Amino acid sequence: MHQASLTVDPAFRAGEVDPRLYGSFVEHMGRCVYTGIYEPGHPTADENGFRRDVAGLVRELGVPLVRYPGGNFVSGYRWEDGIGPVADRPTRLDLAWRSLETNHVGVNEFMTWAKSAGVDPMMAVNLGTRGIDAARSLVEYCNIPGGTYWSDLRGGDPYKIKTWCLGNEMDGPWQTGHKTAQEYARLALETAKAMRQVDPSIELVACGSSNRQMPTFGSWEATVLGEAYDAVDYISMHAYYQQHGDDRASFLAVATDMDGFIDDVIATADHVRAVGRHQKRINISFDEWNVWYQSRFVGETNLEIEQTPRLIEDVYSVTDAVVVGNLLISLLRHADRVKIGCLAQLVNVIAPIMTEPDGTVWRQASFHPFALTARYGQGTVLQLAPSSPLLDTALYGEVPALDAVAVQQPDGGIVLFAVNRSQDTPLSLDIDLRALPALSTASHTAVFDPDPDAVNTAADPERVVPTSLDDPKLDGGRLQAVLPPLSWNMLRLS
Ligand code: AHR
Repeated sequence: MHQASLTVDPAFRAGEVDPRLYGSFVEHMGRCVYTGIYEPGHPTADENGFRRDVAGLVRELGVPLVRYPGGNFVSGYRWEDGIGPVADRPTRLDLAWRSLETNHVGVNEFMTWAKSAGVDPMMAVNLGTRGIDAARSLVEYCNIPGGTYWSDLRGGDPYKIKTWCLGNEMDGPWQTGHKTAQEYARLALETAKAMRQVDPSIELVACGSSNRQMPTFGSWEATVLGEAYDAVDYISMHAYYQQHGDDRASFLAVATDMDGFIDDVIATADHVRAVGRHQKRINISFDEWNVWYQSRFVGETNLEIEQTPRLIEDVYSVTDAVVVGNLLISLLRHADRVKIGCLAQLVNVIAPIMTEPDGTVWRQASFHPFALTARYGQGTVLQLAPSSPLLDTALYGEVPALDAVAVQQPDGGIVLFAVNRSQDTPLSLDIDLRALPALSTASHTAVFDPDPDAVNTAADPERVVPTSLDDPKLDGGRLQAVLPPLSWNMLRLS
């Protein structure tokens, strides 16, 4: 048995959780939209063609915000193709995923779905093949009440979309309309100005690096913010992780990489703030993150042109679920600066929710730590300084066996999210709660399995579910709990 300890003290506040930290992402890619959220003719479809069974799980997942419509897709997208009578809309070749896009779902349909699923939109504009004019027209279409060309075409109440992404992964050579940092910085600045001229109340996300390994990482952020600091509110981050070969130990430690990545971006943004004598701080929109087995993907250039192809429908194991829970711990730990997070993606495409066309819907293993964190991880993040044994990893050196974050909820209750990264040894956790004498009851829920490769499937959708463990003992201001090997845990104290 490993031994670890930590102290929870509400005097040490780290930051407030923005509920948008638990956002997700719907891209016109694979089966995320078509036969994912939208499938007219499905037995559960509503009058607009959206699957009620999927919308029900989106609500259960606890997602408050959904980024749309891409992703790489947005860099070739003409949003005007997706408005007007559906029968008149063109079918286009989407270059990002070599797919046929029928445009049966466009901005109006997405907004109808968002309302029915109870989520706010986060809209991306195309800064790949398009630019200022298309972006400002889309803001006019969505947010101006009426009396102008684009707003009158919309009709009805304005959508009042608050948060907008200035393109997607513009640093990536795979992106249609890829740009250098300087080219993007100028375009982002001028597009931001025009979009705010239409609606000054919007907030804007500038593209950061596509991942920490990009050769331009760091200098990209510095150049973009150096040009556009005052015109934007957030810089984006994207990160996908996977297990390489049989190196599960390193995979279980990827949250340490996410921690370092976030710290680097904060340092870069704050450097630009200092140099430019800026007042405000730029916060982070971590608007794509997840486990993604990219090594299994054939690559977009090798795809046959298809309509609604099955693309990157990764099946997540309990190990993947523990890692997703750990990545959420990393995001929460940075709640003072990471204000938006988007689990990429929402349905079928590297997603917590899976569907079969004309068939069932089910929760992947990763659904569970996400849904529980989104539900209970609201309030104030508290600083922790855990003491934990270390584990050796090939990619990240020595890492703590225990990773944890504590959140004080608005009612004063404490929720501790914790992972035990050891694959074979349980971890006895001693928690000092003497600063919180009113706490009297505790519960322990965990996601783990004797088989680290256990998965949920359509045929066996409840193979991996959260388990309630024996209530931990709370005695004299101390709580003892045992975290199973390779587990994600939630300890709730009220
Ligand atoms: O989420 C899948 C893809 O990953 C997105 O389209 C792109 O932004 C990222 O590279």
